[in-house]
Amino acid sequence: MSKDNKQSPSESLTIKTIFNNIAPHYGLMNKIMSLGLDKLWRQKVVDLVRVEPETNILDLACGTCDLTIMLAKKLKNEGQVIGLDYSAKMLEIGKAKIAKQNLSSVIKLIQGDARKLPFAAQEFDYVVIAFALRNISEREQVLREMKRVLKTDGTIITLDIFRSNLWGYRQLVMFYFKQVIPHLAKLIFNQYQEYNWLPRSIEEFITIEELALKLEEFDLKEIKVEKMMGGVVALHHAKK
Ligand SMILES: C[S@@+](CC[C@H](N)C(=O)[O-])C[C@H]1O[C@@H](n2cnc3c(N)ncnc32)[C@H](O)[C@@H]1O
Repeated sequence: MSKDNKQSPSESLTIKTIFNNIAPHYGLMNKIMSLGLDKLWRQKVVDLVRVEPETNILDLACGTCDLTIMLAKKLKNEGQVIGLDYSAKMLEIGKAKIAKQNLSSVIKLIQGDARKLPFAAQEFDYVVIAFALRNISEREQVLREMKRVLKTDGTIITLDIFRSNLWGYRQLVMFYFKQVIPHLAKLIFNQYQEYNWLPRSIEEFITIEELALKLEEFDLKEIKVEKMMGGVVALHHAKK
């Protein structure tokens, strides 16, 4: 079994195939699924960045670069953002968006694997990962790599979807992810399987509290958690 297949949450489709398939309408589907709130959640990540001359940010599993672009706009030529993803199609769409926004000089895109980063230790002031840690089963390896490439005193930021602790609300949200989203995706984009995988990835993911503990196990400091949407979305950040 290849590494990609190992990542697959019990589907015949690999994670890479899923993202290559959904790339053309990934951004639109995100807006539909989150009722336009995904931008606000990403903004919370951007708000944590303190811009200094030559700030170096790594956006891991950057997808079609929505967060990468927001980070680059915040930097205003004071530094650089590297977006890394292993789906060529997601990056292709991201690259076009970056060019359209005239940000090609601030953002560099790399096709690569978050589990084995092509960077030296201590390169980045910020290493961020949005809506992607959940998709990678070797997440400890990703966290290890994130910490390795982060400068001392640098900040790790993760943003992801979790199961809410609130009984009733949690069932309602999971019903939405299981019964509404895949059918909607089938109706609009003729893609059921790709979105049927989403609720499974949420169910198989660790909890908000477990992720905070993981960061502690990795000897990260000043760990903070911000829950949104009753704990369906959460932002974790910590310092090296
Ligand atoms: C749900 S998207 C998130 C994209 C983006 N961060 C955002 O906020 O919209 C997950 C991304 O993770 C990428 N990905 C999954 N496993 C990866 C890995 N091992 N290395 C690099 N990228 C990976 C996928 O290709 C996909 O683009």
